[in-house]
Amino acid sequence: MDIRPLTGGLGAEVFGADVRDGAQFEDIHAAFAKFSVIVLRGQNISPEDHLEFARRFGPINVNRFFKPVDGHPEIATVLKEKDQKQAVGEGWHTDHSYDQIPAMGSILHAIEMPLYGGDTLFVSMGAAYEALSDPMRRFLDGLTAVHSSRHAFGVRTLDSEAAKSGRLANAEAATQDARHPVVITHPLSGRRGLFVNPVFTTHIEGLTADESAAVLNMLFEHCRQPEFQARVRWQAGDITMWDNRATWHKAINDYHGFRRLMHRITVECEAISG
Ligand code: SIN
Repeated sequence: MDIRPLTGGLGAEVFGADVRDGAQFEDIHAAFAKFSVIVLRGQNISPEDHLEFARRFGPINVNRFFKPVDGHPEIATVLKEKDQKQAVGEGWHTDHSYDQIPAMGSILHAIEMPLYGGDTLFVSMGAAYEALSDPMRRFLDGLTAVHSSRHAFGVRTLDSEAAKSGRLANAEAATQDARHPVVITHPLSGRRGLFVNPVFTTHIEGLTADESAAVLNMLFEHCRQPEFQARVRWQAGDITMWDNRATWHKAINDYHGFRRLMHRITVECEAISG
């Protein structure tokens, strides 16, 4: 297995791995713990292999809103057709942060890729937190934020292209709100990192609406700096696994006229804490 870091702060490409081989799991897990985003190149596997690999990390967290893969209710379809405009996951986010216990990790398998584009961007939330000043870190350390699925997947989104085309469904089930510390301690590394994101975080408790919006906007701007980012260029067959407790991600919607099909499995987490 050949592991090559993608950037100075986040992510690695893994060549020569086979996710079907249980004997390689310890090395793959160690790479995941170290780099937070791992790109396992060339995994031409079935949905059953994908599920077996995911279960080595923990129980599957079934997504309530994405269309499932036929015959595999635990696998979410992430799809944009040639004639569609909207991609799923275009905004910076952390999967399932609206759940009381968010998903630990997501495992995305590229099935069909456009001729060009369709990359995924990631941000290291640990690096972003560490680049803040001491007084700002102290201010954020004791705060709690509220996250919600309502505005992103709820009945207000029924008019969206993603809902109308059936890629997103179950809007009436989007009733989850969750409270999480603004800064969490990563259970594997002990590293402190920000745990707020532009798509699902609605406000910080205890601040006025204006204060909360100003602090969140400042943090979101800060986190978007390229120094904290890694970019994954996909080929069909690749698997990228990311740690939702340590990263944000965003699907780049720059491949109009092409189809892009991915299969995503999310894995359950233990409770997160500050
Ligand atoms: C996602 O947000 O989970 C999908 C990311 C992607 O399609 O690149």
